[in-house]
Amino acid sequence: METILQVRDLSISFTQYDRGTRRRELPVIRRLSLTVEAGQVVAVVGSSGSGKSLLAHGILGILPYNSRMEGEIRYRGQPLTPRRAEKLRGREIVLVPQGVTYLDPLMQVGPQLRMGRRDARARGESRRVLERYGLGPETERRYPFELSGGMARRVLIAAAAMQSPRLLIADEPTPGLDARAAGRILGHFRELAQEGAGVLLITHDLALALTVAHQVAVFYAGETVEVASAADFPAGRLRHPYTRALWNALPQNGFTPMPGAQPGPGEEGTGCPFAPRCPRRGPECAEEIPLRPLAGGLVRCLRPEGGDGL
Ligand SMILES: Nc1ncnc2c1ncn2[C@@H]1O[C@H](COP(=O)(O)OP(=O)(O)OP(=O)(O)O)[C@@H](O)[C@H]1O
Ligand SMILES: [Mg+2]
Repeated sequence: METILQVRDLSISFTQYDRGTRRRELPVIRRLSLTVEAGQVVAVVGSSGSGKSLLAHGILGILPYNSRMEGEIRYRGQPLTPRRAEKLRGREIVLVPQGVTYLDPLMQVGPQLRMGRRDARARGESRRVLERYGLGPETERRYPFELSGGMARRVLIAAAAMQSPRLLIADEPTPGLDARAAGRILGHFRELAQEGAGVLLITHDLALALTVAHQVAVFYAGETVEVASAADFPAGRLRHPYTRALWNALPQNGFTPMPGAQPGPGEEGTGCPFAPRCPRRGPECAEEIPLRPLAGGLVRCLRPEGGDGL
């Protein structure tokens, strides 16, 4: 199996100016790590504001100018430099963006899919890819405002699939869709993985992620706190107290609430950002905590569930 994407110790911060004078670095993503193999759907699960879209933009090399990125991103074994990302973007590496506003409102769907190509082959390809996602040939002549939300989503996926990507990054691809429509879209991602792509599925919805993902990387306040296989969830083999709390908060597990709130960027103290809410915390949790292997996954916790501590 080929490793498509390897992110190691990635940090992204913004430079901000307080009242126009004092310069300040605002860390948003810290020490984030994950790996995507060919044929796999890896879900990145984190709540709103945890840095999920920034991760996608960091991989694609489209972060805003006032940001700084450190750490390592490798794509198919080689460092993914901004120059290399620019070459591969929209071809081997494609994004299904978070908002349907990424569609050009002034351009019909067909020409958008074909990106300027006018030959018969491109026409055949765009028709096939629309059909694959349940959209009729008349969709080609529609403008984005003539599409329903679900159709627009499928057009975005069709646009991504049109490139036969090796790495597909889907940023919150199912908002506002009912469970059936969302399930169908996730099924499409799984198909692309079966055809050999690596899929990075970014979402706040753990239940949805578990219906399709092989691996789940859990973010908290910009850090990877756990990487687990999807099967670890129902089997109760979770490692980090936050992951367990997320799982217990799902409707099918009794909606057990999690008191407290995630710290915002710049509000984290030292050590584990989850410690203030953690039932297992101890004095050592104020220290720097490494991401380490445990029971076939990864965890950033000194007192993991099911572990014997360090
Ligand atoms: N250009 C920017 N300058 C400063 N801060 C930013 C900038 N872009 C994003 N942020 C901050 O970075 C944090 C992470 O943003 P991001 O959009 O990645 O979150 P997210 O996990 O995708 O959230 P959502 O689930 O709502 O899409 C947010 O707190 C946001 O305010
Ligand atoms: Mg986002």
